[in-house]
Amino acid sequence: MTGDQREPGKVVLELIGLKKTFGDKKVHKSINLALREGEVMGLFGGSGTGKSVLIRSIIGLDRPDEGKIIFEGRDLLQLSERQLFAVRMKIGFVFQNGALFDSLTVEENLAYALKEHTKLSDEEIKIKIEKMLELIDMKGSNDLLPNELSGGMQKRAGLARATIIEPKVILFDEPTAGLDPVNTRRLTANIKRLKERGITGIFVTHDIPAAFEICDRIAILNEGVIHVIDSTEAIKHSADPFVQSFVQGAYYT
Ligand SMILES: Nc1ncnc2c1ncn2[C@@H]1O[C@H](COP(=O)(O)OP(=O)(O)OP(=O)(O)O)[C@@H](O)[C@H]1O
Ligand SMILES: [Mg+2]
Repeated sequence: MTGDQREPGKVVLELIGLKKTFGDKKVHKSINLALREGEVMGLFGGSGTGKSVLIRSIIGLDRPDEGKIIFEGRDLLQLSERQLFAVRMKIGFVFQNGALFDSLTVEENLAYALKEHTKLSDEEIKIKIEKMLELIDMKGSNDLLPNELSGGMQKRAGLARATIIEPKVILFDEPTAGLDPVNTRRLTANIKRLKERGITGIFVTHDIPAAFEICDRIAILNEGVIHVIDSTEAIKHSADPFVQSFVQGAYYT
């Protein structure tokens, strides 16, 4: 990991030799990746290279054929459903859609997550929700239902729901996909604010400028392996033409 000047933090999540095949398609040949406490790692890769499968594997929606996913010192692939249940609360995720409960208001959606996962009092929950709504530029939207929100607001509310329970690690799979430029910038700014408050996570995105703004390090997935992983600065200035094709935004045409 040349060029990484940051003091390395403790590793919170480690993927070791992950392999995954669908039929005769080898999506992951051997994935090795270590996520450090306090960092947000960008994950780039062409369409179909297996970024979503990787995120899904970490949260248990896909099962790797081989390898280890070490979180808090334990291999998640060896845990029982019961043990996994407790772990899943510590790993938050934000997918393309906000995944809100349609029949609950914004406030109820956020309160639900906190009531499920914490022992906070109603008063403490209320305070936390108000702070979070301010952070995601949705102050006063407490009583709106998801279908009364714009697409951008729905995504920001989804981001809020995933992060309000303060998971140890948060995984973003193209959270800005489908948003117009203004809403993309807003969501990016919200993630950046969360980052400044100390989240640790993996940020899958095709939005290279957003990743450069948010991420400490960047990994690029290609042909079943992590082609490169380095600090954002080192990636920006990489001499590798393949890496540059991402940096220049030319990879996606
Ligand atoms: N359940 C599945 N059954 C069969 N093939 C699958 C399954 N899930 C994913 N794949 C295949 O695995 C490969 C990787 O898919 P994945 O969704 O992880 O790509 P991606 O990198 O997230 O792409 P994109 O940038 O377009 O979101 C693709 O070829 C996809 O068709
Ligand atoms: Mg994907």
